[in-house]
Amino acid sequence: MKTQVAIIGGGPSGLLLAQLLSTVGVESIVLERQTKDYVLGRIRAGVLEQGLVRMLEEAGCADRLHAEGHVHDGALISYGDEDFRIDFKGLVDASVVVYGQTEVTRDLYDAREKAGGQILFNVEHVQIHGADGDSPYVTFDIDGQAQRIDCNFIAGCDGFHGVSRQAIPLSVRREYEKIYPFGWLGVLSETPPVHDELIYANSKRGFALCSMRSDHLSRYYIQCSLSESPSDWTDAAFWEELKRRIPTDMAEKLVTGPSIEKSIAPLRSFVTEPMRWGRLFLCGDAAHIVPPTGAKGLNTAASDVHYLFQGLKAFYLKGSTAGIDSYSAKALRRVWKVERFSWWFSSLLHRYPDQSEFDLKMQLAELDFLRSNHAAQLAMAENYVGLPY
Ligand code: APR
Ligand code: PHB
Repeated sequence: MKTQVAIIGGGPSGLLLAQLLSTVGVESIVLERQTKDYVLGRIRAGVLEQGLVRMLEEAGCADRLHAEGHVHDGALISYGDEDFRIDFKGLVDASVVVYGQTEVTRDLYDAREKAGGQILFNVEHVQIHGADGDSPYVTFDIDGQAQRIDCNFIAGCDGFHGVSRQAIPLSVRREYEKIYPFGWLGVLSETPPVHDELIYANSKRGFALCSMRSDHLSRYYIQCSLSESPSDWTDAAFWEELKRRIPTDMAEKLVTGPSIEKSIAPLRSFVTEPMRWGRLFLCGDAAHIVPPTGAKGLNTAASDVHYLFQGLKAFYLKGSTAGIDSYSAKALRRVWKVERFSWWFSSLLHRYPDQSEFDLKMQLAELDFLRSNHAAQLAMAENYVGLPY
């Protein structure tokens, strides 16, 4: 097989890149290890920055998003029974859209299928060859048959556990990582959200987050230790703990119900440099991971895709290599700023096991400064709604 861009990974990064490339006549083939249903079965965050919304519009995939997504002009931050609102709209005249990532992925799959895009599922043993030369290719097995795709470029959109990052030699690659000493226990329930905006709660008992997928589907998280497992928590125990961590007036109106999904996610900050090696480009979770606190995983995958799409578009339509040559530096410049925000927001809201009394005082002072200072709230709003591309 031959194509212009071989895309490894059929998650949001790979699908969005394939769809955008198709809008300018650039061919691609997406290789996905799992089945489509498996990919669509993943429960993931759903807060979309304006930049991602615009890209989905450009890709022709934003109709359902606009019909079903919820525009949020602000969010609450609480400490015990005190809370304050960050007014995104008032501060930076921008909002975010709450719309499940699964739905974004579903819309992208629908668009690819409508456009006749090539997506190969259940691929195995993907290997990248010749990325440091002019004739790269990818080999893989499908239904036990060895296959090969010759291409001009390879986009590694295969997430943190993929093969693309590993294809860059250790002599070239530098990795930066921070593992957080806690996890998030998440519950999905068919209940109305406790509030019409998200609530990020810091409490003496640890972090909690009240989020949503729709007006009848809620998503809640509580910070937990890494030694715990979802089976350690009955639904009743989860709801009682959540109520202890959010403001009393919110706890009193919380509608509880059976969990339809319950899982624990570890928290990690991770960046690999560079994000390009010859004709291989890394996008999204293949190159970087953020703690979910700032809801930046999908949104930062989107900014990578923006830079790579613009570079490949200039290459194929104008014969210019400027965009692909500057891809890694441009993407990483924004990635590191998002890593900083996600790390800062996590440090503001969580209880850290090794936190000294002084550390706790610093955290509470940071919260109080954010509550009372316009410039601090402006900076928070600019980061939360999305830094410019
Ligand atoms: N071969 C083919 N496909 C692979 C391979 C492989 N060797 N390894 C992984 N994949 C697939 C995975 O099955 C997954 O569907 O690559 C896809 C990677 O998708 P994500 O992990 O979702 O990463 P990305 O597309 O960059 O999206 C980033 O979405 O999933 C969230 O937390 C993530 O918010 C972040 C955003
Ligand atoms: C979610 O709805 O899953 C969610 C929302 C906001 C976050 C993290 C997760 O910061």
